[in-house]
Amino acid sequence: MPKVLIAGGAGFIGTNLTEYLLNKGWEVFSIDNFSTGKPENIKRFMHDPNFHFEEMDICKDVPHHKFDYIINLASPASPKKYLSLPVETMMVNSVGVMNLLNLADEYKARFLLASTSEVYGDPTLHPQPETYWGNVNPVGPRSVYDEGKRFAEAITMAYHRYNGTDVRIARIFNTYGPYMDVEDGRIIPNFAYQALTGKPITIYGDGSQTRSFCYVSDMVEGLYLLLIKDNLDGEVINLGNPDERSVKEVADLICDILNVEKNYKYLPLPQDDPKRRKPDITKAKTLLGWYPKVKFEDGLRRTLKWYSEIIKNSYAR
Ligand SMILES: NC(=O)c1ccc[n+]([C@@H]2O[C@H](COP(=O)([O-])OP(=O)(O)OC[C@H]3O[C@@H](n4cnc5c(N)ncnc54)[C@H](O)[C@@H]3O)[C@@H](O)[C@H]2O)c1
Repeated sequence: MPKVLIAGGAGFIGTNLTEYLLNKGWEVFSIDNFSTGKPENIKRFMHDPNFHFEEMDICKDVPHHKFDYIINLASPASPKKYLSLPVETMMVNSVGVMNLLNLADEYKARFLLASTSEVYGDPTLHPQPETYWGNVNPVGPRSVYDEGKRFAEAITMAYHRYNGTDVRIARIFNTYGPYMDVEDGRIIPNFAYQALTGKPITIYGDGSQTRSFCYVSDMVEGLYLLLIKDNLDGEVINLGNPDERSVKEVADLICDILNVEKNYKYLPLPQDDPKRRKPDITKAKTLLGWYPKVKFEDGLRRTLKWYSEIIKNSYAR
């Protein structure tokens, strides 16, 4: 069975991907420094003989043994988290990525980098294909993440071009679902928490800005296909759901599903906040045969059910 190293394995996508790969019978080595991930996310895997975990900061060290695959998910991902960890975010996307690439190089492992739609910045082209170079403010507050990920992509391609390392880059668009930290600060956990605890829902701007949300089971399947398919060495592929929704529409849907009053508080838009986000997934469809299958309303229902359990257990007064 394949041996895979998942860096950032105790985070939102890492937890879901671990479960998916363990179900396929893979041997999963997970490492995480818990900067934004949580030990409780991976607790349920601890008794699985195919699961191994080590607390580790990839900027300082990586496990030195042979893996067939290395998946790098390690990086704060939400604006709230990366703005509170600016230097750590830049370091994990530079030194951390380099350490994993050296490991991939040494043992001839295939390397998958989780990049982001944020490399497109505030895009001037819709939807965004992989050939679009982006519109990023290199000195704005979000640059720690956007430019960090652009560097991560660049160094990944440098290892591919100059060392022949087998690499693939996934540009992940907004993903949601169970195990996304309720205090993560991103739209869906934020709105879910506010609606479930009777607080006003905070909408930045007038709520007409759009995002495209991909349910996590679809994302995990896309990452898996990008990892295992042959002849994709050096490919950069958008993974996301092109079903574009306005932020206000998301708030309305959450209130409707939970049957709560639409009590909204409007706040100014943060600096450099992208106004539109929608992936062009033609390449993923062609090369991976992948497209998202879970409808937004269905994914939202499943996610809200999970958050209501979490909030009941953790915030019970
Ligand atoms: N969730 C999304 O919508 C989304 C969108 C675009 C890109 N991504 C990318 O996917 C990856 C996973 O995102 P997520 O939503 O699961 O975020 P997350 O914050 O839940 O998970 C990231 C994990 O990386 C760990 N980590 C951070 N720095 C580390 C370090 N130095 N050493 C070891 N572990 C470290 C964190 O503790 C956390 O468990 C990230 O690289 C992110 O940039 C996610």
